[in-house]
Amino acid sequence: MARKVIIAGNWKMNKTAAEGKALVEELKPLVAGVTAADIVVCPPFTTLGAVIEAAKGSNIKVGAQNVHWEKSGAFTGEISADMLVEAGVEYVIIGHSERRQYFGETDETVNKRVKAAIAAGLKVIMCVGETLEERESNKTQAVLDAQLEGGLAGISAADAEGIVIAYEPVWAIGTGKTATPDVAEETQAGIRAKLAALYSKEVAENIRIQYGGSMKADNAEALVSKKDIDGGLIGGAALKAGSFAELIANGIKGAQSK
Ligand code: 13P
Repeated sequence: MARKVIIAGNWKMNKTAAEGKALVEELKPLVAGVTAADIVVCPPFTTLGAVIEAAKGSNIKVGAQNVHWEKSGAFTGEISADMLVEAGVEYVIIGHSERRQYFGETDETVNKRVKAAIAAGLKVIMCVGETLEERESNKTQAVLDAQLEGGLAGISAADAEGIVIAYEPVWAIGTGKTATPDVAEETQAGIRAKLAALYSKEVAENIRIQYGGSMKADNAEALVSKKDIDGGLIGGAALKAGSFAELIANGIKGAQSK
């Protein structure tokens, strides 16, 4: 069965509650009736409530950008999976390269978060990706293999099938340098091969793999037309309703051309 396209907007540290609500109100009519893709927006924690309210009854799903692995306790500044579920959150991004780079995220902490999120019933978008230096020294596959192995340690095949992997080459994030569709496809085929080795070919075929890194309306179709690219995790281009809706439409076109 074909994997359903999933386009998620990672708003990062952008959009107040009022701005987030306005964006979703503008986006709703632009994507109304779209069923060929899962559409997700991931605002900052304090914007979640307003966005969940605004998205109610629409085809826009809401995700958070991080989650802590403990259920509660003395973890100042952290948010638990149960808190997100109670707020009405459906998805959560885990292990984004900015968290790895600036906030000490490791494969081990990614793994703990993934387990806690799944246990609470959240849908996980787990990010992997190599730096420019790693790509230039031919370490891409080894780096991604280690991130997948570490992040998914102890996760059952049944749970793994529900996880979305976001491949985000660090050198392409916010730089305007998109991986070419061929480079992204080659790398994502490698990710799927690793998933097959960790689980089975069947399980790997069911796992959706997004591309992220300067994905925009004008390159979404070419990227998602590739066999192993099942959607996108979008930063900058998700911050405006018009560009995000156009990107979604073009991504669907790409998927339909497969
Ligand atoms: P940009 O689309 O702004 O490059 O960001 C990608 C990203 O990091 C999404 O998580």
